[in-house]
Amino acid sequence: MRQPSVTGGVVGYRRDNAAVDGPYLLPDYVATHTRAPKRPLVPLAHTLSEVTGPVYGHEDVGELDHDLTRQHDGEPLGERIVLHGRVLDGDGRPVRGTLIEVWQANAAGRYRHVVDQHPAPLDPNFSGAGRCLTDDEGRYRFITIKPGAYPWRNHDNAWRAAHIHLSLFGPAFATRLVTQMYFPGDPLFSQDPIFYSVPDQRDRERLISQFDLAETVPEWALAYEFDIVLRGRESTPMEG
Ligand SMILES: [Fe+2]
Repeated sequence: MRQPSVTGGVVGYRRDNAAVDGPYLLPDYVATHTRAPKRPLVPLAHTLSEVTGPVYGHEDVGELDHDLTRQHDGEPLGERIVLHGRVLDGDGRPVRGTLIEVWQANAAGRYRHVVDQHPAPLDPNFSGAGRCLTDDEGRYRFITIKPGAYPWRNHDNAWRAAHIHLSLFGPAFATRLVTQMYFPGDPLFSQDPIFYSVPDQRDRERLISQFDLAETVPEWALAYEFDIVLRGRESTPMEG
């Protein structure tokens, strides 16, 4: 792993772990053919603005921003779930006050986005986006519905395994991380080149949430736990 860079008195952050996250160019993941860098990367030193901001506080996050089922007049259709976990550093210490944003398809597997025009219904009661801050123990908690699988034309009848996208902002632009979490036992893992963009099986398994009976709410919601580890051997794979 590269060491922190120092420029003009600014100490930069360490770079991503390419061994865990995987390469930029993947033959089976068609979108990488055009977006992967064709020349060697040129590391740029972090500057003051990337290292010091922005800083998010509780005043920036609404009381219901973590609850994707209460953003409209009615409730969205689908299987209501609690998604929760902790954000931990490489030594297992909680990462507090981290802004986590999520975005996802609805229960029918459709995003509320102009690019997504596949023939599944939009849900007028589901936008598919939420956010929250981790607490003093590094915990986060969302209420949402389980997203459906969706087709994405990567290969013959390609469907993405059900997933929720997550962004972690940390204390600075240079620390933003993006990943996807999956659900246990999904039959679509085997033909999903994004899931397989993470080269090591043990690393891939850390992208799969765990069913969490203890956090289910009787007669109301199932629950899944997804811890996010930022560094070290147990780190959660991130997108480049
Ligand atoms: Fe997606």
